[in-house]
Amino acid sequence: MRHVSRRTVLAGAALTAGLANGLARPAIAQAAPLKVGMMLPFSGTYAALGENIAAAFELMLAESGGKFGGRPVTLVRLDDESDPAKAPANANRLVERDNVDVLLGTVHSGVVMALVQAAREHEVPLIIPNAGNVAATRELCSPPVFRSSFSNWQPAYGMGRVLAARGVKKAAWVTWDYAAGKESGDGFRDGLRAGGAELTHTLTLPFPETNFQPILAQLGGLGVEVVGAFFAGGGAIQFVKDYAASGLRDKIPLCGSGFLTEGVLKPQGAAANGIQTALHYGDGLDNPKNTAFRAAFKTKTSRDADVYAVHGYDAGQMLAAGLTATKGDATATQALAAGILAATIDSPRGPFKLSASHNPIQTMWLREARDGQNKVIGTAVEALADPGTGCKMAGA
Ligand code: BEZ
Repeated sequence: MRHVSRRTVLAGAALTAGLANGLARPAIAQAAPLKVGMMLPFSGTYAALGENIAAAFELMLAESGGKFGGRPVTLVRLDDESDPAKAPANANRLVERDNVDVLLGTVHSGVVMALVQAAREHEVPLIIPNAGNVAATRELCSPPVFRSSFSNWQPAYGMGRVLAARGVKKAAWVTWDYAAGKESGDGFRDGLRAGGAELTHTLTLPFPETNFQPILAQLGGLGVEVVGAFFAGGGAIQFVKDYAASGLRDKIPLCGSGFLTEGVLKPQGAAANGIQTALHYGDGLDNPKNTAFRAAFKTKTSRDADVYAVHGYDAGQMLAAGLTATKGDATATQALAAGILAATIDSPRGPFKLSASHNPIQTMWLREARDGQNKVIGTAVEALADPGTGCKMAGA
């Protein structure tokens, strides 16, 4: 028997009610508020990331008069705690109990898989405002699933390319043992290889542990010229401080995906100075959208914007583009997808379009942390698309 999704049932009911009242379906869709289920970490090591994503999404919504596609938007907030074990129940709660029309989430690459599954099963549009799990836009790509951020592969690939172009021959990768760390390591390896260099060692610890001493004790003896790392949030603060305190910093330069120093420079202090990273955002990107965005975000939150805030803001812009195309009908997933794919997103990172597998095609900047800023000092790779391997959608 064909699987009948909640989406199909709701759409059918709305259509029947609309026709009985002599109304076209778009008019019905516009009358009711649109519920966005915002599943993000508001506690734990990624809490600050979730807060910035949520605040910037709300900012973009407020700039749109509280409406997308003509429909007033209400938000349902859910703290996923970056806990993969709770993720299926949390995602189902949003779709089945709270009856959200759109899913927005999340930060953690393990947790996001439950949202991808819920979006595919129930045909509910999902915008991923951070988690870089490559499967979401490779083998599990699907019409209602979009990403406003990056794939884990992209920033680390950029860093690997830069190192190889400088003549580095051997590097190590240090990270948490979960999808984001592993897939970033794959990108780093591929970037190094593209320039004839080699990833010789990968050292891991379980997420979200921060006892880095056993790993730091090994690094000096590996015979590598550079150490690359993926950590973010609270873990990144600790790793960068511990790396400096171990005395390794002056012997083996530390670099990584930009998350290593993003949004955490204040608590990292002088320990972060000189760390180079690659990311699709950086301080001092000089474009009018970025200037306006940073000022508005600061006014709203009293915090400086970072890449996580940019992801949240652009998730709002993408959703607005899709719902404008469908006149507010979130059940019209094909038309919504066409609307998002046709749009050029005017992002604070610079304008971007999505690939056929629904992941941003974007420039990876080379940045250097110095005195509290991740200053853009060059281009790592221009207009970089995730390879999108395994995606079977038309055109992908
Ligand atoms: C991830 O799990 O995909 C992720 C978490 C924090 C920063 C970047 C990526």
